[in-house]
Amino acid sequence: MTQEEVFKKLVAHCKEYGFVFPSSEIYDGLAAVYDYGQNGVELKNNIKRYWWDSMVKLHENIVGIDAAIFMHPRTWEASGHVGAFNDPLIDNRDSKKRYRADVLIEDWIAKQDEKIDKEIEKARKRFGEAFDEAKYRETSPRVAEIAARRSEVRARFAEAMNANDLEGLRRIILDCEIACPISGTRNWTEVRQFNLMFSTQIGSVAEGANTIYLRPETAQGIFVNFLNVQKTGRMKLPFGIAQIGKAFRNEIVARQFIFRMREFEQMEMQFFVRPGEEMQWWSRWKETRMAWHRALGFGDEKYRFHDHEKLAHYANAATDIEFDFPFGFKEVEGIHSRTDFDLGSHQKFSGKKIQYFDPETGESYVPYVVETSIGVDRMFLQVMSAAYAEEPLDGGDSRVVLRLPAALAPVKAAVLPLVKKDGMPEVAQRIVDMLKYDYNVVYDEKDSVGKRYRRQDAIGTPFCITVDGQTLADGTVTVRHRDSMEQERVLVEALPSLVEEECSFRRLFKKLNL
Ligand code: GAP
Repeated sequence: MTQEEVFKKLVAHCKEYGFVFPSSEIYDGLAAVYDYGQNGVELKNNIKRYWWDSMVKLHENIVGIDAAIFMHPRTWEASGHVGAFNDPLIDNRDSKKRYRADVLIEDWIAKQDEKIDKEIEKARKRFGEAFDEAKYRETSPRVAEIAARRSEVRARFAEAMNANDLEGLRRIILDCEIACPISGTRNWTEVRQFNLMFSTQIGSVAEGANTIYLRPETAQGIFVNFLNVQKTGRMKLPFGIAQIGKAFRNEIVARQFIFRMREFEQMEMQFFVRPGEEMQWWSRWKETRMAWHRALGFGDEKYRFHDHEKLAHYANAATDIEFDFPFGFKEVEGIHSRTDFDLGSHQKFSGKKIQYFDPETGESYVPYVVETSIGVDRMFLQVMSAAYAEEPLDGGDSRVVLRLPAALAPVKAAVLPLVKKDGMPEVAQRIVDMLKYDYNVVYDEKDSVGKRYRRQDAIGTPFCITVDGQTLADGTVTVRHRDSMEQERVLVEALPSLVEEECSFRRLFKKLNL
């Protein structure tokens, strides 16, 4: 099965099992907007808990807030979003389709990598055992030609993006002979800037109406509250403020399911530090955040850093943590050294002093900021893509299983009476009642036990607990483990500690060494 097919199956699975639905589907949906279903919301909440607790509970010097989505419109002038939060867009005159110019070029660059990989695969087949990939990369004229062209375009691309050179981007699209995927033609318009913020009106529309924006990032809610939190919490540098909340962007290229959405959620933490110490903290947060991802156990090789060539208007260093999605390595999280840009700018635009008095040095200054910013939905997609597996079973059967880290699983245990009689349903219900105050557990009596196992595998439930005739005799149940499918006989009283051992967040947190 190709990765594309795996991805299609994953999207279908998300819908079929109540994880993610297209928004307002009965009206044919709304592009790049999605709803989370009964299992999706549980998984999403668990992801948020993993993040929130690892930030706010495990760091003495990080506190949380929950700021409003609407903010004073001047906020977005100060942050630079009114002036610079743009995507370069280009239209194809024949198909009338609109594209992001930078994405067209990035896709072309990625295609060159694929071409190189194909050349290497061909050579590997030709040379067999004796094939030396490193040497071939160095010596093949064809690979060298593709790589040189790719590097040249990449350098021109970085230059054009840094200089905001829209004509330069158009030239690259023409020079690389990039065609519209719909019409197949190269009949392109000029490249224009398009602001990504959604706007709406506050107040009565007739008089005194004021344009406000739906926040495109949660970070600004933290910046404008810097002094409120610092003073009321008597916070000393270095310290952080964390927040989880919705953000909105009018994305033009909406694709890859919940990877790029118009309404999404972010988990952001701004870490305020002394000027001059930001690079050291940036390196530290890179490592801390990478460890957070790796603790989930999906495999270290699934992650990599990607340092930015083009820095955002506020940053002096930036890296992405990329995950190996079925459609390739893509950004899940950004770690940015944002300098004193935001606080300094809000100080200027609001006319209010936003400074920190450092008791150690006796000086007042605008702190520097290191930000960690991760999309909840992208994290959700990461978890789902890593966990989804199709496995052959003995006897020619197969199963779909979500190998979710137990702490994140929507349902921790399913309690199944073997038959709907002989007192088994009552005992099963008592087990549900025993566990339900601490865990999301379900009761299921419909269909054969085998079918019930399959249903729970498909949503990633770590334990199936079966009540049978023996339970009534000796107070034991069968516990079936999701991944190994092994079964063991366990006393009913031992169930809470068994579930706790596997499903508690403590297991994950311990791996973080915080
Ligand atoms: N405050 C910094 C900031 O917002 P960003 O790189 O634009 O930086 C941070 O976004 C993270 O938010 C990304 O790494 C991604 O996980 C998530 N994100 C951004 N745009 C998104 C979108 N349209 N849909 C889903 N997630 C998105």
